[in-house]
Amino acid sequence: MAAARLLMAALLGAMACFPALSVAAQSPTLTVTGRASTRTYTQQAVLAHPAVRSVTVADPVYRRTMTYRAVPMAELLKGTGIGADDHVQARATDNFSVGIPGRLANADTAQIEAFVAVEDPAAPWPPIPGKPDKAGAGPFYVIWRLGPSAHVSPEYWAYRLAALAVTDSPLKRWPGLAVGADVPAGERLHTGLDRFVSMCMACHRFNGEGEGEQGPDLGRPMNVTEYFQLPALKKLIRNPASVRQWPEQKMPGFDRSALSDSDLDAIVDWLAYKATQRR
Ligand code: HEC
Repeated sequence: MAAARLLMAALLGAMACFPALSVAAQSPTLTVTGRASTRTYTQQAVLAHPAVRSVTVADPVYRRTMTYRAVPMAELLKGTGIGADDHVQARATDNFSVGIPGRLANADTAQIEAFVAVEDPAAPWPPIPGKPDKAGAGPFYVIWRLGPSAHVSPEYWAYRLAALAVTDSPLKRWPGLAVGADVPAGERLHTGLDRFVSMCMACHRFNGEGEGEQGPDLGRPMNVTEYFQLPALKKLIRNPASVRQWPEQKMPGFDRSALSDSDLDAIVDWLAYKATQRR
């Protein structure tokens, strides 16, 4: 979802006018915050980590195969006290923030392994394609080695990484988002909730829950499915300007490469389900 990310960076760019709020102004370090302690790494420290290695990935940010020096995220999370249900909040220098489920962040299976890639100052990475600022993904970058059938949200490729912090899962922080215990595990509503949390909550709250501030609450006072016809709602999520247009329009569209048809249907199902649940 590079477009959304680009947009967030633009929105947050305004905040960077205040140096005190600007993370980018600090020297490049990676902070790893656990349940009881915080560690800070320089680029040199990560490059000298005993678990550092070369990792080759199909990189959706650079849109090609890339090879990085990288440390398994599980190594960096050692001693943080991360639990099976916890999340790892990855925050970038532009304040973009995404919650990665701990079971993925901490995984080192044949199918999915997360790494933190580190840029060697002596061999800088190229600019990210399509970014007006012409800067690269470094100095730290969350990358994923994925088996043929594995998939993670494009948001989880957190570039320009500044910090990793162990947090409770979104459902523990915001229990009102949950689907009822009566909904069987394989049901699409669970996928919808999962996709909503990872793709929409960076900007939107729901019934007051969440931290998003850029877009409206999609649950209250009225749930979006109560005033949008569902085909129009899906159209808006794919491309907001295809439904209505104005100069201040800020929401990015989600094309099929960012959000599959079935995931889009699942999000809308979950939104509609939450409307019926409230009554
Ligand atoms: C980068 C921030 C951002 C992300 C991510 C985002 N939105 Fe939005 N959204 C907005 C903003 C801002 C608005 C207000 C209209 C505008 O400026 O485009 C909006 C408006 C909307 C509206 C219209 C609400 C109304 O009453 O007019 C819907 C529906 C919506 N978003 C759904 C979603 C869904 C579903 C997702 C996840 C797939 C999502 N948005 C992801 C920023 C975002």
